[in-house]
Amino acid sequence: MLVKILKGAGMVLGSLVLLLGIAYAVIARNITERVEKTYDFARESFPIPTDSLSMERGKHVALIKGCIECHGENMAGKVMIDEPPMGRLVATNLTRGKGGLPDDYAAEDWIRALRHGVGRNGRPLIFMPSHETTLLSQEDMAALIAYCRQLPPVDQAWAPIKLGPVVQVFSYLDKMPLLSVEKIDHHRALLTQADTSGGIAQGKYLAVSCSGCHQPNFKGGDGAAPGSPPVPDLTRSGHVGKWTQPQFIHTLRTGHTPEGRILKNEDMPWKMTAQYQEKELVALYKYFQSLP
Ligand code: HEC
Ligand code: HEC
Repeated sequence: MLVKILKGAGMVLGSLVLLLGIAYAVIARNITERVEKTYDFARESFPIPTDSLSMERGKHVALIKGCIECHGENMAGKVMIDEPPMGRLVATNLTRGKGGLPDDYAAEDWIRALRHGVGRNGRPLIFMPSHETTLLSQEDMAALIAYCRQLPPVDQAWAPIKLGPVVQVFSYLDKMPLLSVEKIDHHRALLTQADTSGGIAQGKYLAVSCSGCHQPNFKGGDGAAPGSPPVPDLTRSGHVGKWTQPQFIHTLRTGHTPEGRILKNEDMPWKMTAQYQEKELVALYKYFQSLP
Protein backbone atom coordinates (compact mmCIF):
# COMPACT_ATOMS: atom_id res chain seq x y z
CA MET A 1 0.00 0.00 0.00
CA LEU A 2 2.68 2.48 1.12
CA VAL A 3 4.84 1.61 -1.85
CA LYS A 4 1.88 2.19 -4.12
CA ILE A 5 1.21 5.65 -2.61
CA LEU A 6 4.87 6.58 -2.86
CA LYS A 7 4.99 5.47 -6.47
CA GLY A 8 1.89 7.56 -7.18
CA ALA A 9 3.37 10.60 -5.46
CA GLY A 10 6.59 10.14 -7.38
CA MET A 11 4.69 10.08 -10.64
CA VAL A 12 2.77 13.26 -9.76
CA LEU A 13 6.00 15.00 -8.78
CA GLY A 14 7.72 13.74 -11.91
CA SER A 15 4.98 15.02 -14.19
CA LEU A 16 4.98 18.35 -12.36
CA VAL A 17 8.70 18.78 -12.93
CA LEU A 18 8.23 17.78 -16.56
CA LEU A 19 5.39 20.30 -17.00
CA LEU A 20 7.44 23.08 -15.41
CA GLY A 21 10.33 22.19 -17.69
CA ILE A 22 8.10 22.41 -20.75
CA ALA A 23 6.60 25.73 -19.59
CA TYR A 24 10.07 27.18 -19.08
CA ALA A 25 11.23 25.99 -22.51
CA VAL A 26 8.23 27.69 -24.12
CA ILE A 27 8.92 30.94 -22.22
CA ALA A 28 12.65 30.94 -23.00
CA ARG A 29 11.94 30.39 -26.69
CA ASN A 30 9.32 33.16 -26.76
CA ILE A 31 11.71 35.68 -25.16
CA THR A 32 14.60 34.70 -27.43
CA GLU A 33 12.41 35.23 -30.51
CA ARG A 34 11.32 38.66 -29.28
CA VAL A 35 14.86 39.71 -28.39
CA GLU A 36 16.17 38.63 -31.79
CA LYS A 37 13.40 40.22 -33.84
CA THR A 38 14.55 42.95 -36.25
CA TYR A 39 12.59 46.19 -36.56
CA ASP A 40 12.78 48.68 -39.38
CA PHE A 41 11.63 52.21 -38.59
CA ALA A 42 11.71 55.13 -41.01
CA ARG A 43 14.86 57.19 -40.47
CA GLU A 44 14.25 60.38 -38.66
CA SER A 45 16.35 63.39 -37.89
CA PHE A 46 16.04 66.84 -36.46
CA PRO A 47 18.61 69.53 -35.71
CA ILE A 48 20.82 68.95 -32.68
CA PRO A 49 21.79 72.26 -31.06
CA THR A 50 25.34 73.23 -30.13
CA ASP A 51 24.81 76.32 -27.96
CA SER A 52 25.75 76.25 -24.29
CA LEU A 53 22.21 76.85 -23.04
CA SER A 54 20.97 73.69 -24.78
CA MET A 55 23.98 71.72 -23.45
CA GLU A 56 23.04 72.76 -19.95
CA ARG A 57 19.43 71.81 -20.57
CA GLY A 58 20.61 68.43 -21.92
CA LYS A 59 22.68 67.79 -18.82
CA HIS A 60 19.68 68.60 -16.64
CA VAL A 61 17.48 66.21 -18.65
CA ALA A 62 20.13 63.46 -18.28
CA LEU A 63 20.11 63.99 -14.50
CA ILE A 64 16.35 64.13 -13.97
CA LYS A 65 15.64 61.23 -16.34
CA GLY A 66 17.97 58.92 -14.44
CA CYS A 67 20.40 58.18 -17.31
CA ILE A 68 23.25 58.10 -14.80
CA GLU A 69 21.34 55.76 -12.47
CA CYS A 70 21.89 53.05 -15.09
CA HIS A 71 24.65 54.33 -17.38
CA GLY A 72 26.84 55.48 -14.48
CA GLU A 73 28.09 58.84 -13.19
CA ASN A 74 30.40 59.29 -16.18
CA MET A 75 27.94 57.59 -18.58
CA ALA A 76 30.52 54.91 -19.34
CA GLY A 77 28.00 52.20 -18.57
CA LYS A 78 27.33 49.97 -15.60
CA VAL A 79 26.57 46.38 -14.72
CA MET A 80 23.11 46.62 -13.24
CA ILE A 81 22.70 42.98 -12.25
CA ASP A 82 25.00 39.99 -12.56
CA GLU A 83 23.67 37.01 -10.63
CA PRO A 84 23.11 33.54 -12.07
CA PRO A 85 19.31 33.15 -11.78
CA MET A 86 18.74 36.72 -12.97
CA GLY A 87 21.44 36.94 -15.60
CA ARG A 88 23.53 39.94 -16.53
CA LEU A 89 22.02 43.30 -17.41
CA VAL A 90 24.49 45.92 -18.60
CA ALA A 91 23.87 49.53 -19.59
CA THR A 92 25.96 50.68 -22.56
CA ASN A 93 29.02 52.92 -22.36
CA LEU A 94 27.51 56.00 -24.03
CA THR A 95 30.81 57.86 -24.44
CA ARG A 96 33.08 57.62 -27.47
CA GLY A 97 35.87 55.86 -25.61
CA LYS A 98 36.95 52.25 -26.34
CA GLY A 99 34.03 49.93 -25.61
CA GLY A 100 31.65 52.87 -26.03
CA LEU A 101 29.57 54.05 -28.97
CA PRO A 102 31.34 53.88 -32.35
CA ASP A 103 32.73 57.11 -33.85
CA ASP A 104 30.08 57.16 -36.54
CA TYR A 105 27.17 56.74 -34.10
CA ALA A 106 25.06 59.56 -35.55
CA ALA A 107 22.26 61.77 -34.24
CA GLU A 108 19.91 59.50 -36.18
CA ASP A 109 21.11 56.51 -34.15
CA TRP A 110 20.50 58.39 -30.91
CA ILE A 111 17.01 59.31 -32.08
CA ARG A 112 16.24 55.71 -33.08
CA ALA A 113 17.32 54.46 -29.64
CA LEU A 114 15.48 57.10 -27.60
CA ARG A 115 12.36 57.19 -29.73
CA HIS A 116 11.89 53.57 -30.83
CA GLY A 117 13.93 51.47 -28.41
CA VAL A 118 16.06 49.69 -31.01
CA GLY A 119 19.78 49.68 -31.72
CA ARG A 120 21.49 50.39 -35.02
CA ASN A 121 21.02 46.80 -36.13
CA GLY A 122 17.26 47.09 -35.63
CA ARG A 123 17.35 44.76 -32.62
CA PRO A 124 15.42 45.74 -29.47
CA LEU A 125 17.40 47.50 -26.77
CA ILE A 126 17.13 45.42 -23.63
CA PHE A 127 15.93 47.05 -20.42
CA MET A 128 16.50 50.58 -21.78
CA PRO A 129 13.39 52.65 -20.85
CA SER A 130 12.75 54.04 -24.35
CA HIS A 131 9.00 53.85 -23.66
CA GLU A 132 9.75 56.83 -21.36
CA THR A 133 12.36 58.67 -23.46
CA THR A 134 9.99 58.51 -26.46
CA LEU A 135 7.70 60.86 -24.50
CA LEU A 136 10.37 63.57 -24.26
CA SER A 137 9.69 66.70 -26.26
CA GLN A 138 11.78 67.10 -29.40
CA GLU A 139 13.45 70.09 -27.78
CA ASP A 140 14.47 68.10 -24.68
CA MET A 141 15.53 65.06 -26.73
CA ALA A 142 17.69 67.23 -28.99
CA ALA A 143 19.33 68.91 -25.97
CA LEU A 144 19.91 65.52 -24.32
CA ILE A 145 21.57 64.14 -27.46
CA ALA A 146 23.70 67.29 -27.78
CA TYR A 147 24.90 66.84 -24.21
CA CYS A 148 25.55 63.10 -24.51
CA ARG A 149 27.52 63.48 -27.74
CA GLN A 150 30.09 65.73 -26.13
CA LEU A 151 30.73 63.57 -23.06
CA PRO A 152 34.45 63.02 -22.39
CA PRO A 153 35.41 59.60 -23.82
CA VAL A 154 35.95 56.84 -21.26
CA ASP A 155 37.59 53.53 -22.23
CA GLN A 156 35.41 50.88 -20.67
CA ALA A 157 34.26 47.64 -22.27
CA TRP A 158 31.57 45.46 -20.71
CA ALA A 159 30.59 41.82 -20.97
CA PRO A 160 27.44 41.30 -23.06
CA ILE A 161 23.90 41.10 -21.70
CA LYS A 162 22.74 37.61 -20.75
CA LEU A 163 19.15 36.89 -19.76
CA GLY A 164 18.77 34.40 -16.92
CA PRO A 165 15.62 32.34 -16.25
CA VAL A 166 14.21 34.75 -13.63
CA VAL A 167 14.43 37.71 -16.01
CA GLN A 168 12.94 35.63 -18.82
CA VAL A 169 9.96 34.50 -16.75
CA PHE A 170 9.36 37.99 -15.27
CA SER A 171 9.53 39.54 -18.72
CA TYR A 172 7.18 36.92 -20.13
CA LEU A 173 4.67 37.76 -17.38
CA ASP A 174 5.17 41.47 -18.19
CA LYS A 175 6.48 42.14 -14.68
CA MET A 176 9.67 43.66 -16.04
CA PRO A 177 10.09 46.22 -18.84
CA LEU A 178 12.55 44.21 -20.90
CA LEU A 179 11.63 45.29 -24.42
CA SER A 180 10.46 48.88 -24.57
CA VAL A 181 10.13 48.63 -28.36
CA GLU A 182 6.98 46.57 -27.79
CA LYS A 183 5.42 49.22 -25.54
CA ILE A 184 5.91 52.26 -27.77
CA ASP A 185 3.35 53.80 -30.11
CA HIS A 186 5.80 54.23 -33.01
CA HIS A 187 3.43 56.39 -35.06
CA ARG A 188 2.95 59.00 -32.40
CA ALA A 189 4.48 62.35 -33.36
CA LEU A 190 7.01 63.81 -30.94
CA LEU A 191 5.80 66.61 -28.76
CA THR A 192 7.56 69.75 -30.06
CA GLN A 193 8.03 71.58 -26.77
CA ALA A 194 7.18 70.67 -23.20
CA ASP A 195 5.06 72.80 -20.92
CA THR A 196 7.24 74.80 -18.52
CA SER A 197 4.62 76.89 -16.78
CA GLY A 198 5.20 75.18 -13.42
CA GLY A 199 1.66 73.82 -13.24
CA ILE A 200 -0.18 70.53 -13.62
CA ALA A 201 0.72 70.15 -17.31
CA GLN A 202 4.45 70.36 -16.61
CA GLY A 203 4.02 67.97 -13.68
CA LYS A 204 2.30 65.46 -15.94
CA TYR A 205 5.16 65.67 -18.46
CA LEU A 206 7.75 65.11 -15.71
CA ALA A 207 5.82 62.34 -13.98
CA VAL A 208 6.51 59.95 -16.87
CA SER A 209 9.75 59.18 -14.99
CA CYS A 210 7.79 58.04 -11.94
CA SER A 211 5.23 55.94 -13.83
CA GLY A 212 7.50 52.93 -14.40
CA CYS A 213 7.54 52.14 -10.67
CA HIS A 214 4.57 54.07 -9.24
CA GLN A 215 2.36 52.75 -12.10
CA PRO A 216 0.80 54.82 -14.92
CA ASN A 217 -2.07 55.86 -12.60
CA PHE A 218 0.43 56.67 -9.79
CA LYS A 219 -1.46 54.45 -7.36
CA GLY A 220 1.63 52.31 -6.71
CA GLY A 221 1.54 48.57 -6.20
CA ASP A 222 3.81 45.59 -5.63
CA GLY A 223 7.58 45.98 -5.53
CA ALA A 224 9.38 46.06 -8.89
CA ALA A 225 11.41 42.92 -8.21
CA PRO A 226 11.18 40.10 -5.68
CA GLY A 227 12.37 41.45 -2.31
CA SER A 228 11.93 45.16 -3.10
CA PRO A 229 9.48 47.24 -1.04
CA PRO A 230 5.93 47.96 -2.23
CA VAL A 231 5.56 51.15 -4.25
CA PRO A 232 3.44 53.87 -2.58
CA ASP A 233 0.43 55.72 -3.99
CA LEU A 234 1.37 59.32 -4.90
CA THR A 235 -2.15 60.64 -5.58
CA ARG A 236 -4.40 62.70 -3.31
CA SER A 237 -6.12 59.56 -1.98
CA GLY A 238 -2.81 58.02 -0.86
CA HIS A 239 -0.57 58.71 2.06
CA VAL A 240 1.79 61.03 0.10
CA GLY A 241 -1.30 63.01 -0.92
CA LYS A 242 -1.64 64.17 2.71
CA TRP A 243 1.80 65.79 2.69
CA THR A 244 2.28 69.53 2.30
CA GLN A 245 4.22 70.82 -0.68
CA PRO A 246 7.34 71.56 1.44
CA GLN A 247 7.22 68.02 2.90
CA PHE A 248 6.97 66.53 -0.59
CA ILE A 249 9.89 68.63 -1.84
CA HIS A 250 12.02 67.87 1.22
CA THR A 251 11.48 64.10 0.75
CA LEU A 252 12.45 64.16 -2.91
CA ARG A 253 15.56 66.21 -2.19
CA THR A 254 16.86 64.27 0.81
CA GLY A 255 15.22 60.82 0.85
CA HIS A 256 13.89 61.57 4.36
CA THR A 257 10.11 61.37 4.69
CA PRO A 258 8.00 63.46 7.12
CA GLU A 259 7.38 60.23 9.08
CA GLY A 260 11.14 59.89 9.63
CA ARG A 261 11.72 57.06 7.18
CA ILE A 262 14.90 57.04 5.10
CA LEU A 263 14.41 55.96 1.50
CA LYS A 264 17.16 53.88 -0.10
CA ASN A 265 18.28 55.27 -3.44
CA GLU A 266 18.24 51.73 -4.93
CA ASP A 267 14.51 51.45 -4.15
CA MET A 268 13.39 55.02 -4.71
CA PRO A 269 15.91 57.03 -6.80
CA TRP A 270 15.82 60.20 -4.70
CA LYS A 271 19.32 61.20 -5.87
CA MET A 272 17.64 61.63 -9.24
CA THR A 273 14.69 63.60 -7.83
CA ALA A 274 17.15 65.74 -5.83
CA GLN A 275 18.32 67.12 -9.19
CA TYR A 276 14.90 68.52 -10.08
CA GLN A 277 14.51 72.28 -9.96
CA GLU A 278 12.20 73.70 -7.28
CA LYS A 279 9.73 74.65 -10.00
CA GLU A 280 9.72 71.08 -11.36
CA LEU A 281 9.04 69.57 -7.92
CA VAL A 282 6.23 72.05 -7.36
CA ALA A 283 4.75 71.06 -10.74
CA LEU A 284 4.96 67.37 -9.79
CA TYR A 285 3.25 68.05 -6.47
CA LYS A 286 0.45 69.98 -8.19
CA TYR A 287 -0.02 67.19 -10.70
CA PHE A 288 -0.24 64.40 -8.08
CA GLN A 289 -2.60 66.56 -6.01
CA SER A 290 -4.85 66.85 -9.07
CA LEU A 291 -5.29 63.07 -9.24
CA PRO A 292 -8.18 61.77 -7.10
C1 HEC B 1 16.76 51.48 -16.27
C2 HEC B 1 18.10 51.66 -16.73
C3 HEC B 1 18.35 52.66 -17.85
C4 HEC B 1 18.06 54.01 -17.86
C5 HEC B 1 17.35 54.82 -16.80
C6 HEC B 1 18.58 54.51 -19.11
N1 HEC B 1 19.16 53.50 -19.84
FE1 HEC B 1 19.96 53.67 -21.71
N2 HEC B 1 20.27 51.67 -21.77
C7 HEC B 1 20.08 50.80 -20.70
C8 HEC B 1 20.52 49.48 -21.07
C9 HEC B 1 20.46 48.24 -20.20
C10 HEC B 1 20.99 49.56 -22.40
C11 HEC B 1 21.60 48.43 -23.23
C12 HEC B 1 20.58 47.89 -24.17
C13 HEC B 1 21.11 46.78 -25.05
O1 HEC B 1 22.32 46.69 -25.25
O2 HEC B 1 20.28 46.01 -25.55
C14 HEC B 1 20.81 50.96 -22.79
C15 HEC B 1 21.12 51.45 -24.06
C16 HEC B 1 21.07 52.80 -24.41
C17 HEC B 1 21.38 53.32 -25.72
C18 HEC B 1 21.68 52.49 -26.96
C19 HEC B 1 23.09 52.44 -27.33
C20 HEC B 1 23.28 51.56 -28.55
O3 HEC B 1 23.91 50.52 -28.39
O4 HEC B 1 22.76 51.89 -29.62
C21 HEC B 1 21.26 54.68 -25.65
C22 HEC B 1 21.49 55.68 -26.76
C23 HEC B 1 20.88 55.01 -24.29
N3 HEC B 1 20.76 53.83 -23.57
C24 HEC B 1 20.71 56.29 -23.81
C25 HEC B 1 20.12 56.59 -22.57
C26 HEC B 1 19.81 57.91 -22.12
C27 HEC B 1 20.14 59.20 -22.87
C28 HEC B 1 19.18 57.79 -20.93
C29 HEC B 1 18.54 58.87 -20.07
C30 HEC B 1 17.40 59.54 -20.67
C31 HEC B 1 19.11 56.37 -20.62
N4 HEC B 1 19.71 55.67 -21.63
C32 HEC B 1 18.52 55.83 -19.49
C33 HEC B 1 19.53 51.12 -19.47
C34 HEC B 1 19.05 52.35 -19.10
C1 HEC C 1 12.86 52.71 -9.70
C2 HEC C 1 11.52 52.85 -9.19
C3 HEC C 1 11.02 54.21 -8.78
C4 HEC C 1 11.01 55.39 -9.50
C5 HEC C 1 11.53 55.61 -10.92
C6 HEC C 1 10.38 56.38 -8.66
N1 HEC C 1 10.03 55.82 -7.47
FE1 HEC C 1 9.25 56.81 -5.85
N2 HEC C 1 9.41 55.11 -4.74
C7 HEC C 1 9.77 53.88 -5.21
C8 HEC C 1 9.71 52.92 -4.13
C9 HEC C 1 10.02 51.43 -4.25
C10 HEC C 1 9.32 53.63 -2.99
C11 HEC C 1 9.13 53.06 -1.57
C12 HEC C 1 10.46 52.98 -0.92
C13 HEC C 1 10.40 52.52 0.52
O1 HEC C 1 9.30 52.26 1.00
O2 HEC C 1 11.46 52.42 1.12
C14 HEC C 1 9.13 55.02 -3.40
C15 HEC C 1 8.79 56.05 -2.55
C16 HEC C 1 8.47 57.33 -2.96
C17 HEC C 1 8.03 58.39 -2.08
C18 HEC C 1 7.86 58.27 -0.56
C19 HEC C 1 6.51 57.76 -0.22
C20 HEC C 1 6.30 57.39 1.20
O3 HEC C 1 5.22 56.90 1.49
O4 HEC C 1 7.18 57.60 2.04
C21 HEC C 1 7.77 59.47 -2.87
C22 HEC C 1 7.24 60.82 -2.44
C23 HEC C 1 8.09 59.11 -4.23
N3 HEC C 1 8.51 57.80 -4.24
C24 HEC C 1 7.96 59.94 -5.33
C25 HEC C 1 8.47 59.65 -6.60
C26 HEC C 1 8.46 60.58 -7.71
C27 HEC C 1 7.86 61.96 -7.68
C28 HEC C 1 9.07 59.94 -8.76
C29 HEC C 1 9.33 60.48 -10.14
C30 HEC C 1 9.99 61.75 -10.26
C31 HEC C 1 9.47 58.62 -8.29
N4 HEC C 1 9.07 58.47 -7.00
C32 HEC C 1 10.16 57.69 -9.06
C33 HEC C 1 10.18 53.58 -6.50
C34 HEC C 1 10.39 54.50 -7.50
